[in-house]
Amino acid sequence: MKSLAQVVFSSFGSSVGKKLLVALTGLALLLFLAGHLAGNLLIYRGPEELNSYAHELHTALHGSLVWIARLGLLAAFVVHVALTISLARDNRAARPHAYAKPATVQASIASRTMILSGLVILSFVVYHILHFTVHVADPSYDALVFDLHGHKVPDVYSKVVKGFSSVPISAFYILSMALLCTHLSHGFASVFQTLGLRSARTSGLLKLLGGLYALVIFVGNVSIPLSVLGGFIKPIAH
Ligand code: HEM
Repeated sequence: MKSLAQVVFSSFGSSVGKKLLVALTGLALLLFLAGHLAGNLLIYRGPEELNSYAHELHTALHGSLVWIARLGLLAAFVVHVALTISLARDNRAARPHAYAKPATVQASIASRTMILSGLVILSFVVYHILHFTVHVADPSYDALVFDLHGHKVPDVYSKVVKGFSSVPISAFYILSMALLCTHLSHGFASVFQTLGLRSARTSGLLKLLGGLYALVIFVGNVSIPLSVLGGFIKPIAH
């Protein structure tokens, strides 16, 4: 008789198990995006609010919380991408001859471009981390500090204002957000379908909620570069 561990591992190697893991990791990434947006929007409350939030995140649990979140996020991202590629390969192997007629007439643009928009998101995230976390794109960010009630903390507010003052960088972010959101609008409904929560009755509602969720993430995120370029979010006056 198979042990529980064997059953779990063999089911994750099956197509159903892989789909389930893609859905669960997708759900974790959807939740991260909502949390990240909520944090980013603190920029509208001013430098002190955003910088003190970033400082708290980086110092919680003696600095280990941020590493736990990073490792969890990285694991979710790697599993999501690797299993999506593996499922696409399995599908191709099971269908050696291409369909005579394209089978995508009914499929939305978002669903047909999931792999492409996913690859753009991957490149965006690599650039974004090099830009705002590692500061490779502009090492002068290392020197940006903020006086938070007598403590010198990293000045995330000025980093964002400086970054988005560049029109090409803002344009790249806005374009990436548009592709990210086409991916989300389809991914949202797919997660619920895989989890068995989509029926003929809820399908329309889930599609609507997926579209709304993607729209909130898009509008919230692109409002930041647009507000910097439009002068609504201003550099700190020294
Ligand atoms: C305009 C939209 C966005 C803004 C303004 C923004 C802002 C930032 C900033 C300022 C940081 C560095 C925080 C710090 O230094 O403490 C950061 C980190 C990060 N962001 Fe974003 N972000 C945006 C969109 C996104 C999106 C769409 C994703 C995912 C698809 C994302 C994923 C990440 C990740 C993974 C990190 C790295 C966290 C770390 O390891 O420290 N961000 N973001």
